[in-house]
Amino acid sequence: MPSVSLMQSAPGPETVIDGVPYLYFAGTSYLGLAAHPEVIEAGCEAMRRYGVHSATTRARFGTNPPLLDVERLAAQFFGTDDAFYFGSGYAANHIMVAALAQNAEAVLLDDAAHYCVAEAARLAGAPIHTFRHRDPEDLARLAKGKRHFLVMADAVGPSSGAPAPVMEYLNVLQGHEGARLLLDDAHGVGVLGEDGRGLLDELRLWPSVNTGNSGLHVCGTLAKALGGFGGIIPGTWEFVRHVRGASHYFDGASAPASAVAGATAKALEIVLREPELRARLRENTLRLRAGLRALGLTPPDGATANFGVVIGDSANMRRIHETLKSRQIMLPYVGSYSGIPPEGILRFAVFANHTQEQIDRLLDELRAIL
Ligand SMILES: Cc1ncc(COP(=O)(O)O)c(C=O)c1O
Repeated sequence: MPSVSLMQSAPGPETVIDGVPYLYFAGTSYLGLAAHPEVIEAGCEAMRRYGVHSATTRARFGTNPPLLDVERLAAQFFGTDDAFYFGSGYAANHIMVAALAQNAEAVLLDDAAHYCVAEAARLAGAPIHTFRHRDPEDLARLAKGKRHFLVMADAVGPSSGAPAPVMEYLNVLQGHEGARLLLDDAHGVGVLGEDGRGLLDELRLWPSVNTGNSGLHVCGTLAKALGGFGGIIPGTWEFVRHVRGASHYFDGASAPASAVAGATAKALEIVLREPELRARLRENTLRLRAGLRALGLTPPDGATANFGVVIGDSANMRRIHETLKSRQIMLPYVGSYSGIPPEGILRFAVFANHTQEQIDRLLDELRAIL
C-alpha cells in the first residue's frame, strides 16, 4: 500500500486530514453536497429499507426504488427522456465505447485524456491514434480519409480545468460519415451551462447530445459536483436502451448500493431544487480566479470549479503547497496525472459552500508566500 493521507471527515471547505483540520481546496465536491444532512439521512433511510444492496443484477430483481429515483431525477436534471445509472464514473467510457464503437474504423484519442478514457478506447478493438491535447488541427490530420471513427476526450481537464474545443472538433467531424465525438464531462456536469448540464450545455449543444444519430455523446459521474456517487449516461429512450444493452453492466453487475443510490437521489433533488448552489459556485470560482489574477498569476478563463495554475517549477509549487499546508490550507500540488504539464500543477478546487472569507484567506496566504 503506498503511503496515503487519511481523510477523517467528510470533504468540504473544512476537512480533517491525518488529524489536522484544513481549509480545503481539493477534491471534487464542487456543489458542497457530500455532507449535506438531507443527503446523509436519505442514504441511511435507503439502507434501512433496502439493505446494503439488491444482491442481484438490475435485469432480475435487482432494481430497487432508489435506483429508479436516481435515473428519473438524473433525466430531469439533464432534460432527457431517460438515464442509465451504474456503479462508477470510471466505467462510463467503457459502457459508451461498447455502445458506440463496435464497428468503428479507428479511435482518435486526445493524448492527455483521463485514464478511464484511454483504457476504454482499447475496448473498441480498433486502431487507436492519439492527437495532441486539445488540438483540432492535429485531430483533422488524423481524421483525413477516415469514416466511422470515434473521437474520445475529456470535456474538462480533471486537473487543468481546460475545456475541450468542442466546436472545432465538431467542424473536423463534418464530412466524415459515421464519425462520432464522445466526451467525458466528469468535471463539467453540475457546474457549467445554464442548467448545469456541463460543457455541452454551456456551448448550447445540449438538445442534440446522446440521441441516436447526432454523433455527439457525453457521459459523466454523479460523484463530483452532483454530490452523489456512480456513473451516469443520460439520453433519449432509444439511446439509453441501446446503451443498457450494449455491455453487461446492467445485467451482469451489482447495481449501486442502496445507501449510495438513496443519497445520490437526494443530492439530485437538492440540485434541482436549489439552482442557487450553482450560482454560488460560479461566484466563488470567479472570485478566486480574479484574486489570483490580481496576484499576477494566470488561472485559465472560464468558470470550471477545478483549475490548475503553474507557478514556477515543481520545487516552487511543492514549496507553496507545503507552506500552505503548514498554515492549515490544503491546496494540492499534482506532480503526475493525466493532462498536466511535466512540472506538475497546483490544482484549485472551489466549492459552492466556501465562504468569501475562506477564499480571501487562501489569496492572502498566497500573496504572502509567492
Ligand atoms: C475525467 C474523469 N472521468 C472519470 C472519473 C472517474 O469518475 P468516478 O470517480 O465517478 O469513478 C474521473 C475521476 O477522477 C475523472 O477525472
